[in-house]
Amino acid sequence: MYTVPKLTDFSPAALDHAVRELLSALEQESAAVASENDWKVFRDRWMARKNGVLTQLNDLWLKAAPKDAKREVGQRVNEVKAKVSDVVEKRRIKRIFVAATDSFEFSDSVSVEVRRVDVTLPGIRRPLGAEHPVIKTMNEMVGVFRNLGYSVEEGPEIETDYYNFEALNFPPNHPARDTQDTLFIAGQESKPQRDRLLLRTHTSPVQIRSMEKMKPPLRVVCPGKVHRNDAPDATHSPIFHQVEGLAVDTNITFCDLKGTLDHAMKALFGSSVKTRFYPSFFPFTEPSADVQISCIFCGGTGTRDGAPCRNCKASGWIELLGCGMVDPNVYGFVDYDPAKVSGFAFGMGVERIAILKYGVDDIQLFFNGDVRFLEQFA
Ligand code: PHE
Repeated sequence: MYTVPKLTDFSPAALDHAVRELLSALEQESAAVASENDWKVFRDRWMARKNGVLTQLNDLWLKAAPKDAKREVGQRVNEVKAKVSDVVEKRRIKRIFVAATDSFEFSDSVSVEVRRVDVTLPGIRRPLGAEHPVIKTMNEMVGVFRNLGYSVEEGPEIETDYYNFEALNFPPNHPARDTQDTLFIAGQESKPQRDRLLLRTHTSPVQIRSMEKMKPPLRVVCPGKVHRNDAPDATHSPIFHQVEGLAVDTNITFCDLKGTLDHAMKALFGSSVKTRFYPSFFPFTEPSADVQISCIFCGGTGTRDGAPCRNCKASGWIELLGCGMVDPNVYGFVDYDPAKVSGFAFGMGVERIAILKYGVDDIQLFFNGDVRFLEQFA
């Protein structure tokens, strides 16, 4: 019976020879397997963690190899491992198949275990999957801006303090940082603050990354996942998605921002929705605004079926996203000349829009993985 030789010569030719010997032994022993028990013995002899042939290869070949041969030996050992598990698995299937075929003729001489293999049973159905409603909505939102000539940019979900805050004009220790409920990566204290890692709280860092990469004029839309330290409930989730937009060019005005977002809201919610811009604050835009759309449930009237509309708290308006003109300070971080260019930015929550579009009453439904919910969007 084959035993793993202790190698002393690690030249490619010697390795080839040793591998050939091993594989021919493997084939021979595989061919000799007749019963289920034979197969188990065969499998254990080659693959048992304790003292199987593969384990011995680690000790007798890999560990014994001198430094400069390690790579080569490692590659061969990996190839042999793949081959052995392949032969062992194929042998298992072949034995069951042969036994099952035999059982048609000699059904009473075959073990019960084998007769259970019923080749006439129907196969396993694998229903076709579909796009998740959040991704579907995100793609739809991105599509609206692509049609306006925006290109798509992405950035990392684990960001530095610099991109998530500092370059967006949130100075260190500025109270505006408190609005973001940030999840920080542990053990970063020894780094300078700007290099410390965190889970991005918004997609706005991609604005900075895009402006570092490209000169104006620039029109980008940045979809992606963001994280905040919020306890999950019907309207909050520690993980959610945003779509960010940024346009920088000469002579971009607040008018362009209003026109663009009004168009986008009509494309997403139907041509009868109205938009309204409400003063707000973000450190990286000035002026800033929250955008509200006329309530899609009560048509902006504030009453529905004779009662106050619950969706807009009877106001007729629903707040949907943040936006503003890029603050000139931000251009300073990316080497754009604020005297020459101007631009606008906006950011919107994907789940928030999906909830409104589809009338979903609990954000958690998007993340629970219940197929009965998800397949309604297929
Ligand atoms: N990043 C902001 C947020 O997550 C939204 C925003 C984006 C506001 C772009 C203005 C401009 O709250």
